[in-house]
Amino acid sequence: MAVSKNFFSVAVFFCLFSFSFIAGNGVEVTHDGRAIKIDGKSRVLISGSIHYPRSTPEMWPELIKKAKEGGLDAIETYVFWNAHEPSPRVYDFAGNNNLIKFLKTIKESGLYGVLRIGPYVCAEWNYGGIPVWVHNLPGVEIRTANRVFMNEMQNFTTLIVDMVKKEKLFASQGGPIILTQIENEYGNVISHYGDAGKAYINWCANMAESLKVGVPWIMCQEADAPQPMINTCNGWYCDNFEPNNPNSPKMWTENWVGWFKNWGGKDPHRTAEDVAYAVARFFQTGGTFQNYYMYHGGTNFGRTAGGPYITTTYDYDAPLDEYGNIAQPKWGHLKELHTVLKSMEETLTNGNVSETDFGNSFKATIYATNGSSSCFLSNTNTTTDAFLTFRGRNYTVPAWSVSLLPDCQHEEYNTAKVNVQTSLMAKNKTEEPIALKWIWRSENIDDALHGKSNVSANRLFDQKHKANDASDYLWYMTKIHVKHDDPVWSENMTLRINASGHVIHAFLNGEHIGSHWATYGIKNDKYEPKIKLKQGKNVISLLSVTVGLQNYGPYYDTWDSGLVGPVELVSVKGDETIVKDLSSHKWLYKVGLHGWDQEFFSEDSHYASHDKWESERLPTNRMLTWYKTTFNSPRGTDPVVVDLQGMGKGYAWVNGQNIGRIWPSYNAEEDGCSDEPCDYRGKYTNSKCVTNCGKPTQRWYHVPRSYFKEGANSLVLLAELGGNPSLVNFQTVVVGTVCGNAYEDKTLELSCQGRSISAVKFASFGDPKGVCGAFNNGSCQSNKDVLSIVQNACVGKEACSIDVSEKTFGPTTCGNLPKRLAVEAVC
Ligand SMILES: *[C@@H]1O[C@H](CO)[C@@H](O)[C@H](O)[C@H]1NC(C)=O
Ligand SMILES: *[C@@H]1O[C@H](CO)[C@@H](O)[C@H](O)[C@H]1NC(C)=O
Ligand SMILES: *[C@@H]1O[C@H](CO)[C@@H](O)[C@H](O)[C@H]1NC(C)=O
Ligand SMILES: *[C@@H]1O[C@H](CO)[C@@H](O)[C@H](O)[C@H]1NC(C)=O
Ligand SMILES: *[C@@H]1O[C@H](CO)[C@@H](O)[C@H](O)[C@H]1NC(C)=O
Ligand SMILES: *[C@@H]1O[C@H](CO)[C@@H](O)[C@H](O)[C@H]1NC(C)=O
Ligand SMILES: *[C@@H]1O[C@H](CO)[C@@H](O)[C@H](O)[C@H]1NC(C)=O
Ligand SMILES: *[C@@H]1O[C@H](CO)[C@@H](O)[C@H](O)[C@H]1NC(C)=O
Ligand SMILES: *[C@@H]1O[C@H](CO)[C@@H](O)[C@H](O)[C@H]1NC(C)=O
Ligand SMILES: *[C@@H]1O[C@H](CO)[C@@H](O)[C@H](O)[C@H]1NC(C)=O
Repeated sequence: MAVSKNFFSVAVFFCLFSFSFIAGNGVEVTHDGRAIKIDGKSRVLISGSIHYPRSTPEMWPELIKKAKEGGLDAIETYVFWNAHEPSPRVYDFAGNNNLIKFLKTIKESGLYGVLRIGPYVCAEWNYGGIPVWVHNLPGVEIRTANRVFMNEMQNFTTLIVDMVKKEKLFASQGGPIILTQIENEYGNVISHYGDAGKAYINWCANMAESLKVGVPWIMCQEADAPQPMINTCNGWYCDNFEPNNPNSPKMWTENWVGWFKNWGGKDPHRTAEDVAYAVARFFQTGGTFQNYYMYHGGTNFGRTAGGPYITTTYDYDAPLDEYGNIAQPKWGHLKELHTVLKSMEETLTNGNVSETDFGNSFKATIYATNGSSSCFLSNTNTTTDAFLTFRGRNYTVPAWSVSLLPDCQHEEYNTAKVNVQTSLMAKNKTEEPIALKWIWRSENIDDALHGKSNVSANRLFDQKHKANDASDYLWYMTKIHVKHDDPVWSENMTLRINASGHVIHAFLNGEHIGSHWATYGIKNDKYEPKIKLKQGKNVISLLSVTVGLQNYGPYYDTWDSGLVGPVELVSVKGDETIVKDLSSHKWLYKVGLHGWDQEFFSEDSHYASHDKWESERLPTNRMLTWYKTTFNSPRGTDPVVVDLQGMGKGYAWVNGQNIGRIWPSYNAEEDGCSDEPCDYRGKYTNSKCVTNCGKPTQRWYHVPRSYFKEGANSLVLLAELGGNPSLVNFQTVVVGTVCGNAYEDKTLELSCQGRSISAVKFASFGDPKGVCGAFNNGSCQSNKDVLSIVQNACVGKEACSIDVSEKTFGPTTCGNLPKRLAVEAVC
């Protein structure tokens, strides 16, 4: 097999190459072909992505603490250029954008940092992180050998490096950052850019090197990364990956623990067993650095979601959920894996490697040093469990799993055997107020409906050009004079709009004639509303709405957005079709919405003052309407969500803070969910094990605790598509049900994460069947009252632990079958 052959050559060469970087009074970060070395010591490093703008500074310490408890050595983040430089040389490093504070929080926790500057980041982030003003610079071509772009990229990258250096945050200065990244997944698209792409990536490498950060640079998904850049792997599995240079260690920058979600998409789920399997396979095949993408996904607040059509939630099915809760079993199952891997650090980074092939995709890999050896037993067969005799001992390795034997004798861990609890989260309605009282006002669109604007052109513009990303909203307006003897006139006319959406609201002479959007906001969409023109002057007003700008693909930055045209009048008269192209008419443009400009959502805006709002005749299903209510801050410290069921598309603000795009009425696709329990075996893709078919893509929206204040709080909704706010309410997210599952000779631990266990609903020692929430007795079990034993040990306690053995639970009728204890409890 080519992969393992080359892998061995890497192992042989490991000690021949060693790279030194300037080290100040800090630690020295170097590497050889085996591993990253910190002060000369080769390391097994486990890292996890937490993107600072997807949570709040108030959440960071707790998220990083939970990451450390989960066994991480490092926190990785991108740097988000368009968040920091919204217009040229105007910078924002406040609040959620406080990069330096985030890095200092990592430092205080004692973890390392990995800084992926990009500054193109993809990341399901608006426009991949590149400011739209860069796109609008004369002569620019993005992500290629273009002077205008390279100047801007260098200017921003240098700014970030200088800020980080000034605070002494690179490891070479005594700070936490051990690795830096330039560009991002450029190898995925480089072939589309020809020689200019090659020249650009070489320039990126030289530019990065010239910044003298004192720690190694990485380039992910960059198969021809110029030295000394280390190319690294991104994907669901990276066991087959090999870096392009014998001096580069095998590193995995993005282990996708799940997937993101689009409006209309289902909830992704990747099992803990499969993530652990992918990690174990990576280390078995010579990997030494691995980063979870994401460890905490978080929330796309404001207008930061990429696209088109990325949801506000960026949960990613990560070990910490969107709100920062520990997601079990994923968090705990991986934590146990990390402990075992760390115990093998010396052999994994220095040991000689050999392999035994048992056939049927069963393998043993042995890492041996003079003093000790560590082994992996892998079964990559998707269906058949392996019964192996290895060095005189028998092992059962379930299909699609890896066993870790740190001493080559005892199985300390198997990726398919989950010994930690499963927590099912529940939403708990807050007490106050029982029903929210709403006031409302209209978005004033009179000017747009009359075609009034001082900005015009005799052509249709891409939305990025005219709106410059200052708003999702851009009005395209034109006036046409028709007479009944005009050849195009008929009773039966259509307006044919070639758009690259993502959403269009069409008005004719002040009347709404329809709204339109394409599934997932695909490009080159066509919208053809019927219209009835009157004699004389007619005003066509089209409100084009973007739902996150494209963030990925070759030349993604040039993908159209808005009404790119042609826009035509089409008239059918008998057999004859007459088309009148309006594209080079005089078009008037207006960016944004009045209510947004006047900050109806803000407490401070005098336009938002109470007397301008109406409390009577609360409208429902009325588009372009603003709603406002006040409420008390939910008690306690549990994470809070607002349930926006009943609302259509729009935006929501709490105390003036934009919590993101809302679209609760957009249902996920009907097809693709299964009633069968999710099978961890076999290669994961984002269509596997999905849930939430046919239900609202996103009904709940995270409101960080720090957005609340004492006394009256405000919630403002922009109902672009209408809706009915009467069902809107606030909820906390708490652990509802916990299930424990532990094999014989292990310990079962249950915890309600701060609450007490109120009841035990199920307990069986034997071979219980089913999944958390739907357990059943199996074919064999203990003859004792297992339920009472567990109730006595757990009810009333915040956490309990039980030794799983026949000593505790008595003999079973299971014979040689592996026995386990399964418990379901209520918090
Ligand atoms: C970035 O550009 C500005 C001018 O727009 C210049 O003043 C500044 O020095 C540049 N920064 C770097 C690091 O080149
Ligand atoms: C998996 O195991 C089965 C049964 O032992 C065997 O027939 C099959 O070839 C194996 N598959 C692979 C990919 O090794
Ligand atoms: C590792 O391999 C080298 C080269 O083949 C050999 O000299 C050395 O003895 C081996 N060490 C161990 C512990 O097997
Ligand atoms: C292993 O032992 C051999 C012979 O004693 C020695 O040359 C070699 O340096 C040792 N290797 C390690 C990694 O300790
Ligand atoms: C391993 O399994 C084989 C076949 O099932 C059996 O003959 C043998 O005794 C077992 N060895 C040990 C050490 O249990
Ligand atoms: C749910 O909220 C109610 C009050 O509305 C409270 O009494 C109860 O303790 C909460 N339950 C949990 C699990 O937080
Ligand atoms: C158009 O009007 C707005 C507000 O009335 C004003 O701020 C802007 O400068 C005007 N633009 C032009 C090109 O006259
Ligand atoms: C309008 O035109 C369409 C074809 O575009 C045709 O199907 C329809 O019957 C026409 N309606 C009238 C009222 O003429
Ligand atoms: C719509 O516009 C796109 C982008 O400009 C173009 O590729 C496509 O051919 C147009 N479609 C029609 C029907 O003109
Ligand atoms: C499982 O078996 C126990 C003991 O026989 C019995 O009390 C319990 O009701 C059974 N549970 C289910 C869910 O069938």
